[in-house]
Amino acid sequence: MKNYYLDWHKMIERAVDSWGKVSVSFKPRAIAITGMGGSGCVGDYVEALASSREGFGSPIIVVKSSSLPKYVAGSDLVFAVSYSGDTIETIMAFGEALRRGARVVAITSGGMLEECSKIRGVPVVKVSEGLVPRAALPEMLIGILGVLDSMNLTLASRDEVVELAQFIGERSLDAVNEAKALANFIYESSSNLVIATHTPLEVIAVRGKNELNENAKILVKVEVAPEWAHNDIVGWENPFTRNWAAITIADPGNILGARLVEFMESIYVKSGVKVHKLLLKGSNLLEKLIYGSLVLGLASVELAELRGLNPLETKGIALYKKFLREIAEEKPC
Ligand code: F6R
Repeated sequence: MKNYYLDWHKMIERAVDSWGKVSVSFKPRAIAITGMGGSGCVGDYVEALASSREGFGSPIIVVKSSSLPKYVAGSDLVFAVSYSGDTIETIMAFGEALRRGARVVAITSGGMLEECSKIRGVPVVKVSEGLVPRAALPEMLIGILGVLDSMNLTLASRDEVVELAQFIGERSLDAVNEAKALANFIYESSSNLVIATHTPLEVIAVRGKNELNENAKILVKVEVAPEWAHNDIVGWENPFTRNWAAITIADPGNILGARLVEFMESIYVKSGVKVHKLLLKGSNLLEKLIYGSLVLGLASVELAELRGLNPLETKGIALYKKFLREIAEEKPC
């Protein structure tokens, strides 16, 4: 599975080749991005990029549910993201978007979402088949960035994505070494894990949590400053167990954020918690987000290997999907 991650620079190049193939001419009031799990987190990345981009014209609403917020309407654009194309919640939200008259674009490698899109005349950004959803993050994300660029809602230009491919290719070895150190740290601590960071990097912490859940089969708590300092910090005063380890993630270019993470570290250390720090590399937010995600993805696979577990197997998700198919009433399209 490691190769899926190590090939990310090639995946990004492939996504650049498809840049502009799906273009939309429409000025949406808002953009909703709906999907679950590894596909759902794509919306978090777009939201993080949009929040940090001066002058970006439309609010981003991330939806990880089978139903869209009631205010999503005909004046909005909805991206339905499902790597497999067969995730019931996403298909339901897709159907709801069409019923409300919203413009819809699907991001998928196939499945029911592709079929329904063909039937309903919905444009599809088709991503590479044969991966697992979490490994296809860059391709799904760049698919959305390309469509947004076609609408003059640019979060990254084609040239910036070309530079991203080069940057990730050049930094792969750094990422592998960082990931090994991280996996060894988690393995040796054999405890509950916190991933701690500062805004606007919560997306990396959540994605890292998901990767460690799915690939390494462990539980992880996410803590994000400054909100952390208004609640979690007090929990560290008297927890039931001090059997925790913490990974902290900071952007060295964000002076306030990096100082907040240092403060978090001091509280963890005072609570008897060991800390391992990851400093992000990259010259812009997109590069930093993808670099951090690559390190955590590789670390989660490395940890699975150390624990003798198959990173690709996600039995719990399969069990849940079977259960949902039995109880869901939605007719495909
Ligand atoms: C990640 C993963 C899951 C899926 C989720 C939704 O690799 O396997 O988190 O992403 O169950 O499925 P898709 O992405 O196919 O819509």
